[in-house]
Amino acid sequence: MKAPFPTLTPDEAAALIHDKDTIGFGGFTAAGACKVIPLAIAARATAEHAAGRPFKLGVITGASTGKSLDGALAAAEAIEWRTPYQSDPILRKSINEGKTRFFDLHLSAVQPTVRSGVFGPVHWAIIEASHVSPNGEIVLSTAVGAANTFVRVADKILIELNAHHPGDLMGFHDLYEPADPPRRREIPLYAPTDRIGSSFIKVNPNKIAGVVLTDLPDETGGFDAPDAVTDRIGHHVAQFLADEIKSGRLPASFLPLQSGVGNIANAVIGALGANPGIPPFTMYTEVIQDSVVDLLRSGKCEFASGCSLTLSQPQLKKVYDELEFYRPRMVLRPQEISNSPELIRRLGLITINTAIEIDLFGNVNSTHVMGRDLMNGIGGSGDFTRNAHISIYTCPSMAKQGAISTIVPLVTHLDHSEHSVQIVVTEHGIADLRGKSPHDRARLMIENCVHPDYRELLHAYLNISAKGHVPQTLHNAFSMHLAYLESGDMRKVKWF
Ligand code: COA
Repeated sequence: MKAPFPTLTPDEAAALIHDKDTIGFGGFTAAGACKVIPLAIAARATAEHAAGRPFKLGVITGASTGKSLDGALAAAEAIEWRTPYQSDPILRKSINEGKTRFFDLHLSAVQPTVRSGVFGPVHWAIIEASHVSPNGEIVLSTAVGAANTFVRVADKILIELNAHHPGDLMGFHDLYEPADPPRRREIPLYAPTDRIGSSFIKVNPNKIAGVVLTDLPDETGGFDAPDAVTDRIGHHVAQFLADEIKSGRLPASFLPLQSGVGNIANAVIGALGANPGIPPFTMYTEVIQDSVVDLLRSGKCEFASGCSLTLSQPQLKKVYDELEFYRPRMVLRPQEISNSPELIRRLGLITINTAIEIDLFGNVNSTHVMGRDLMNGIGGSGDFTRNAHISIYTCPSMAKQGAISTIVPLVTHLDHSEHSVQIVVTEHGIADLRGKSPHDRARLMIENCVHPDYRELLHAYLNISAKGHVPQTLHNAFSMHLAYLESGDMRKVKWF
């Protein structure tokens, strides 16, 4: 059967995009993100701007992307507005300088919000695939993200067909899109291993404006080797969970795990794998990271459900070299399913995420530095934290070589409230906040989680703030932050 869609060069594909178009890009993190069409669109934007013509786009993604997407488009000043999570330094700068309008969303909310029409029409879905049939069957690559919704609602579709992925990824994806209220029914998934949808996306082939052939690896970075701090954090989390099983507060069969992004999350999963008190487990998570691949191979992790395979190239090669081993042991789902509050509650997830700062009472800031500058975004942390069976937050006790304590009197931006955050872990220990009053929480945080350099300072804060249900002194609550902004070191704080 002859396909009704043409093969295009990246420049030919980019020439189809117009100023003010809204694009939904497939992929999730740099995994499965487009690599050549956005670069060509960026070059087109630069040329249009040089010719004195406007060229700016609305950009919706699954989450962060690779440097050829967010980085290139931001450098070309081609992004008028952007949602949700991003982690690109050039885009971050543009957002913090007010040049790009950014609005953050819980990642489970991206697909329903697109369907609701709040963002207006989606003119283009631009996605990466590992296989496209002439009759419009698309097998995705290393991620799903929101691709299944983008291709359904978009006016037109462009596909990067990437030969770097094996042509036979059928069965790695499980694509299910729930109906919207008032017709929403339960999502029929009862265990992380359940498959409830289709392994490929079916579209009207006439909607595909063209396919661009590529052969490029995902632009994923590797991980830093675990260091003393991430090792200690990983050990504390693993020991806490092993003790919960021993005490009978967690079932002996354990519960599925979600773990966030980055070096700490990768080290925590490694530590859980190494702890004999933790039985073989399943993961129902958003991003499947490097450490999970080896745990699947060893059998300590029995199954991993996620939204993307965000792996370093050596780890991805292991999966691709043994497709038949990994195919029944992992599945990639749309983000509204991997991050579904309904499913997180039903499955009883243990969630482990990383904070920028946490206050003495358990409120967490995951997104903004000094209350002002965006770091990345809320990502899936809100989806998981609010609905977890046990919600855990990790972070090093200090940042910027000790000039910042990550445990502060009051967070400068609130993403997860004290009502949702149960356990806090730094390299110094664990604060189990469950069933504790704000006064008890504050003492526990100082004794168990705060770096010794900051303990006396924070005890002094508590002493002057002793009154009320929440011991807080408003005119001092941000004094540590102000001391950092004025002197470069929170330890120079003066309470008054
Ligand atoms: N104040 C100021 N800066 C701080 C800080 C604080 N309290 N805590 C950390 N930082 C800085 C670090 O110094 C570092 O700066 P650099 O890039 O200049 O070196 C930067 O923030 C990142 O810190 P790092 O320790 O490397 O953190 P990370 O890579 O583990 O990321 C988050 C931490 C919170 C930014 C990241 O986990 C995130 O974006 N979370 C939100 C989304 C999420 O949780 N997703 C997972 C859900 S599935």
